[in-house]
Amino acid sequence: MSQAKITVVGAGNVGATAAHIAASKGLGDVVLLDIVEGLPEGKALDMAQAKGVYASAGNLTGTTDWDKAANSDIVIVTSGLPRKPGMSRDDLLAKNAGIVKAVTEQIVRTSPNSFIVVVCNPLDVMTQVAATVSGFDKNKVMGMAGALDSARFACFIAEELNCDIADIRGVLMGGHGDDMVPLPRFTSIAGIPLTELMARDRIDIHIQRARKGGIEIVNLMGSSAYYAPAAGAVKMAEAILKDTKSIVSCCAYCDSEYGIGGAFVGVPAMLGENGVEKIIQLDLNETEKAELVASVNHVKELVSVVETMI
Ligand code: LAC
Repeated sequence: MSQAKITVVGAGNVGATAAHIAASKGLGDVVLLDIVEGLPEGKALDMAQAKGVYASAGNLTGTTDWDKAANSDIVIVTSGLPRKPGMSRDDLLAKNAGIVKAVTEQIVRTSPNSFIVVVCNPLDVMTQVAATVSGFDKNKVMGMAGALDSARFACFIAEELNCDIADIRGVLMGGHGDDMVPLPRFTSIAGIPLTELMARDRIDIHIQRARKGGIEIVNLMGSSAYYAPAAGAVKMAEAILKDTKSIVSCCAYCDSEYGIGGAFVGVPAMLGENGVEKIIQLDLNETEKAELVASVNHVKELVSVVETMI
């Protein structure tokens, strides 16, 4: 079987880290692409040399030339401005919409059969931009946020329960913003619902911390997170390339599902060789439904703004 080809657009912190994780896992040939001459070439060369240490399969190419990304199986889009202290993810809308539009046009030209995984903010809206501009089937375009947010939730739970984080399955829905909807009833530790193992007031503290998990890091180091976002994007790429059918919280197109009515938002979804293969429909209670509606409405408002820009 020929090697899969994964292009990562943007050689900044998230993009370079995603390329490095994909390469170290031997997921396939990795192309790291950026508009800044020298940056993707330099980072890819460094990563290629790291492969001499950990000896995984696949080539690494750093480039500013979209033609070298041609015929990719998956394109991970990380290009765009990150947040600075004091900024919300929504503040990035206009600037990043232009970038994602231009990037998506190149993806359509060079890799018309690819899957697109969007990582730039505001995440759900940028995923919509990539879907609209590409015209790709909706199962082929998705955004990485839930993998990150549920991992953050899991990290805080593991710390408090002093348990193995690998036992935790965090479930979370809605947009990638302060109104995201972590779901403790569906979050489990070795199959045991979180609500059985932790008091509600402690769960609420971790929900709030997960919601603010991005800005906590921005405030600490002056720019946004990248190890966990990159790991989330590669997890999605791996599920598709290896057809694992993993259920991952991710930004996927929902119409009748949850009554969302045509929007890209975070939901538990099964990922496999056809991209988003199934949206998992949970039986939400009234509070959870209301929180989801509020979060989806926020995403839809931003989408109506962005539609005038692309
Ligand atoms: C975060 C950014 C990547 O949540 O949105 O860290």
